[in-house]
Amino acid sequence: MTVNAPSAPGVPGHLAIIMDGNGRWAARRGRPRQLGHRAGIKAARAIVEAALNAGVRTLTLFAFSSENWKRPRTEVDALMRLFAEVLQREVKVLHENGIQLRFIGARETLSPVLRRHMAEAELRTAGNQRMTLVLAVAYGGRWDMVQAVRRVAQKVRAGEIDPADIDEQLLERHRALAGLPSPDLLVRTGGEHRISNFLLWDLAYSELYFTETLWPDFSPDELARALDFFANRERRFGRTSDQLEAVAD
Ligand code: IPE
Ligand code: IPE
Ligand code: MG
Repeated sequence: MTVNAPSAPGVPGHLAIIMDGNGRWAARRGRPRQLGHRAGIKAARAIVEAALNAGVRTLTLFAFSSENWKRPRTEVDALMRLFAEVLQREVKVLHENGIQLRFIGARETLSPVLRRHMAEAELRTAGNQRMTLVLAVAYGGRWDMVQAVRRVAQKVRAGEIDPADIDEQLLERHRALAGLPSPDLLVRTGGEHRISNFLLWDLAYSELYFTETLWPDFSPDELARALDFFANRERRFGRTSDQLEAVAD
């Protein structure tokens, strides 16, 4: 199967997840927030495997937002250490499973060591085609739009693009997820019903699934429930039900 192979009908080709609730999970156990983040990694590992088995072609996980820099220094430092640790430990297994890794976010805000691990992981897994795993680190939907506009503006200044040629397709090609389809399904754990500056452009027509379950408790069974929910949606993209039935006939 190649990356371009479509998912089975009713399976989201691209699943995006806001992994929220690690801190509360730890607090409920009287433990430091960092322990919740560690437990969150375990959950992420299981969900990557479950998504792969379910036939998801692209999985995007929101790991650290532009706004998460505002957290206490100790928590930010612990998260950064955890990312570096996970990259060193997990890339081999992901690679062996045919998973391509890709990172989106403001890399220049991350440490040089972490950036090097990220670049190495991307290079090593670049040829894999079973599933693309996108990790959003230091990512914000507004940052994404700004970086896209900046790159387009540079091309305009260089005379490569005429402003009259700027359209949705052009901006699509400059977004952080360039080359990948927009998410079909967004899952947010942890009970909040908000986007928190995740993929603002890309979520325009995603189905939304919210659960109270805190991320470390989000199991493959619960993922199956989210996928069931998705399978029962009628995606009309602005059309009417009758029109969709006419096309299906
Ligand atoms: C999500 O869990 C992980 C990150 C944002 C890094 P939180 O850390 O936001 O957990 P809660 O929402 O405080 O429980
Ligand atoms: C969203 O969670 C970001 C990630 C899961 C990485 P937050 O916990 O940061 O979201 P808010 O601040 O409650 O909206
Ligand atoms: Mg949170």
